[in-house]
Amino acid sequence: MSAGCAVMLLLVSCHRRETLPVQLIPAPVSLEQRPGSFACGPGTQIIYQGGAEALGEAEYLATCLRIPTAYPWEVAEGAPGKDRIALLLDPGFRDMSGQESYSLEVFGSQAVVMAGHPDGLFRGIQTLLQLMPPEVFSPEPVQGVEWKIPCCRITDQPRFSWRGMHLDVSRHFFPVDFIKRYIDLIAMHRMNVFHWHLTDDNGWRIEIKKYPLLTEVSAWRVDREDEPWRSPTPPKPGEPATYGGFYTQEEIREIVQYAADRHITVIPEIEMPGHTSEVFAAYPELSCTGKKLYVQPGSYWPNNDIFCAGKEETFEFLENVLTEVMALFPSEYIHIGGDEADKTRWKACPLCRKRILDEGLADEDELQSWFIKRMEMFLQSKGRKLIGWDEILEGGLAPEATVMSWRGFEGGFEAARQGHDVVMCPTSYCYFDYYQADPDFEPEAIGGFTTLKKVYSFEPVPEGLSGTESRHILGGQGNVWTEFIPNPEHAGYMALPRMTALAEALWSPKELRNWDNFRSRLDAHFKRLDQMKVNYSKGSWKVDIRPDIQPGGSYGISLETEQPGYPVHYTLDGSDPTTTSPLYDGPLTIDTTTAIKAVIFVDGFLKEKVSSKTVHFHLATGKRAFLKTEPSERYFGNGVNSLVDGMTGSGSFRDGYWIGFEGKDLELEIDLGTDMPVQEITAGFFQQTGAWIFMPAEVTFILVPSGGDTVASVTEKPETTTEAIGAVTEPVTAVFDNIHARFVRVHARNMGACPSWHEGAGNPAWLFADEVIVR
Ligand code: ACM
Ligand code: ZN
Repeated sequence: MSAGCAVMLLLVSCHRRETLPVQLIPAPVSLEQRPGSFACGPGTQIIYQGGAEALGEAEYLATCLRIPTAYPWEVAEGAPGKDRIALLLDPGFRDMSGQESYSLEVFGSQAVVMAGHPDGLFRGIQTLLQLMPPEVFSPEPVQGVEWKIPCCRITDQPRFSWRGMHLDVSRHFFPVDFIKRYIDLIAMHRMNVFHWHLTDDNGWRIEIKKYPLLTEVSAWRVDREDEPWRSPTPPKPGEPATYGGFYTQEEIREIVQYAADRHITVIPEIEMPGHTSEVFAAYPELSCTGKKLYVQPGSYWPNNDIFCAGKEETFEFLENVLTEVMALFPSEYIHIGGDEADKTRWKACPLCRKRILDEGLADEDELQSWFIKRMEMFLQSKGRKLIGWDEILEGGLAPEATVMSWRGFEGGFEAARQGHDVVMCPTSYCYFDYYQADPDFEPEAIGGFTTLKKVYSFEPVPEGLSGTESRHILGGQGNVWTEFIPNPEHAGYMALPRMTALAEALWSPKELRNWDNFRSRLDAHFKRLDQMKVNYSKGSWKVDIRPDIQPGGSYGISLETEQPGYPVHYTLDGSDPTTTSPLYDGPLTIDTTTAIKAVIFVDGFLKEKVSSKTVHFHLATGKRAFLKTEPSERYFGNGVNSLVDGMTGSGSFRDGYWIGFEGKDLELEIDLGTDMPVQEITAGFFQQTGAWIFMPAEVTFILVPSGGDTVASVTEKPETTTEAIGAVTEPVTAVFDNIHARFVRVHARNMGACPSWHEGAGNPAWLFADEVIVR
């Protein structure tokens, strides 16, 4: 009998006591699975206890279930019983710990969710939905599904109280309907905060009745959607501003209510003092210069134009705006931005200088601190709390401010030390506008490299905080900045499944965090997202083609993915792999320059785009090499092996193929093992001045025979100038006349400090290198 038949028999004979898979994300605190299931049918009722609040949750659940099942799901007050899903709200259960805790028990003919607070009841309902077949997430009726809920007992509560997702609607505008879908996703992941980044240089998105020009003027820019974000053509005289949009106050109320119905708090962000140039397109008198600007159709950097801190009109404006904002958003917190404010204008402004004098402030940092403290006093007078990006630490934190730590963990660490609450969202784990797989094969992103596995490893509480201090870490948040995310479909691609990994990092007990176990539940979760028609990324199935150099000198190529357990098919002849291509089962040996392609098939279908890399097999490939200077720990790649592994880097310096030296030269020696004729040496370098990475000033290539002295030395300079815009890679080559040598030395001289015109003037310049190819 084949294995397939055995499984069939088992299913038939165990029908009544079958154990259906339970694959919940985030993982609950405790789950005890039992054999059997509760099969819901057209007569199944939703019963509630606990008054109007419980009724609200029952109605929500009924609405969720009626669509896909096409059953009536009658809602009534009553007691748990046969063929019923009971939702029991009783403040007595609150001692279960915190208002989001719940318990859920499924028996052969009924289910019971209990909580002490409506928040907990709602989170329990989300878990109940995930226990059901994935079609329960369909926005349309689905035929032929058995609506079974596996028998189990769950008790659950979140680890952190702030489990957020952010969305920037300034860089690109997103319609109301998408905002609701985004909130649905937050809800299904048992997250509870939606941070709505409503204003920035590229458009003001919230109707403010007192300042109609904010939506008549500041919400619209000239359409440069077909041009590079970082270098759009400025508006032409008289050109209409047609790209943009805004949310009316009515729409905002609708969204805030929609989120509240899902027990999600919407935190509005109104940027100040910087990232506000769009305001000066409508109200130029509020800036230091008073100059009328246009709304930026692309990146605006540095952020020079900021609110004048010397003018009382600025504060009158901001207080009036925040008054309308607070009337729309009941959240305890109001986010005032505070990030990346360039102080150039403040330095030059007589009114700002006067303010510094009058208030006895030391400098512009203290002026920013004074500005934020003043806004905090205003918010506090209305019973609200201020939250801002970690730059609000500069010049001194406002007394009660909460800090959103994005530039790393350090700002949050410092704020917690000072006794302030903190939300952690460091770029390295929480910026979902970063690449999630090999940039060579991904739609253009802002940069970075944050894989699903990396997000899953996010630990919001930094080491070194005391118990009391660590209680100030409220939780974390995923940030979706939309410079390179022009539409809802792409927002789904960037946010998911990284948001799924983040949800578990923020909800589940630290001890339960286990990547392999998470992976095993992810397929079920993808089926849910498929039903919701979310265009999530499969980047985690991308095959990484990696060199494998063993200390003994053996050289091979390994094919890795974040999803081991799936078969990887590959080719070595440049053709696209098929299901009949060889299966990978260990490092590949190659001895010539080879184009490798690899991919995962599941049920005959490509799981993700094909990966391809050309491995340059040359005299130095896999040879022993030594570095006199260490690369930075942050950009260490594979250490010195990165320079002789046959692999060149991509257009992203964070891809793991590049290694970086901060302020230092690259001094490399390769041992070819024996004397060989050398005709050419090429070393690859990278420049991206915005990231303080520059070409080397010059590169010297030296050949040394065994037991001898230098026989040849050539010095070359890169052609790329420091003024070159964007990311540039340049191979620097030296040519030799078949000179016999065993040792190849490469000395790339770092240009030292960033040049005087550069924002990092005087600071150490970075030097990045990938492969040294010897022929
Ligand atoms: C930020 O990413 N500028 C907060
Ligand atoms: Zn000023």
